[in-house]
Amino acid sequence: MCAVQPRPIAFVSTVDSLGRANLAPFSFFTAGGANPPSVVYCPVLRPDGTPKDSLANAEATGEFVVNMVTGDMAERMNITASEFAPDVDEFVVSGLTPLPSRIVRPPRIAESPVHFECRVSKVIRLGDGPSGTVYVIGVVEMMHIDIGLWKEGSFEPGDFRGLGRMGGREYVDLAEMEIFEMARPKVAPQSSGEGSE
Ligand SMILES: Cc1cc2nc3c(=O)[nH]c(=O)nc-3n(C[C@H](O)[C@H](O)[C@H](O)COP(=O)(O)O)c2cc1C
Repeated sequence: MCAVQPRPIAFVSTVDSLGRANLAPFSFFTAGGANPPSVVYCPVLRPDGTPKDSLANAEATGEFVVNMVTGDMAERMNITASEFAPDVDEFVVSGLTPLPSRIVRPPRIAESPVHFECRVSKVIRLGDGPSGTVYVIGVVEMMHIDIGLWKEGSFEPGDFRGLGRMGGREYVDLAEMEIFEMARPKVAPQSSGEGSE
């Protein structure tokens, strides 16, 4: 799946049933449609077939937060990708700052400019055993966007130094990428309904 490039990174915060915070990055991640606004991340099963903390916690509490990652968060994000015991608070080991959420229990990451507070809608298990595929689908209950990225009523990504994952250890800093515009060709609507979204 490394050929799917670049992939955005969900920096997922969850809490366990005792309220202990957990952080981990997931690049099997995307946003879905807008009605309802939704996201999905894939915490594959561990080599022994057990769930990662970010899956166990999301299933136990029904909540998670996706924090978007910027280039200057990369190294601290990477620290949280180590397999820490469930009682280790990755906010502490990474030096990232917890910020209370408005609706859900998992805290947000203060250093991140965009947060999605989510409720678990469905967990789909496609595979068992090592690297078994699991999809955690969440409905976005509240979105937070840094005021500096909000211009004239919409998200203005110009100043957003998003981080993407290429494959393996390779990343791309979206601030360094060339951005170009392309207008869609105007085609008269077909009787089949093509052309509408
Ligand atoms: C940039 C990045 C992206 C990652 N993406 C995924 C992913 O999509 N799925 C996955 O299961 N693990 C992924 N990992 C590994 C997890 O972050 C790692 O297994 C982590 O320890 C899981 O933590 P948890 O047990 O606290 O949930 C990724 C690691 C990095 C550094």
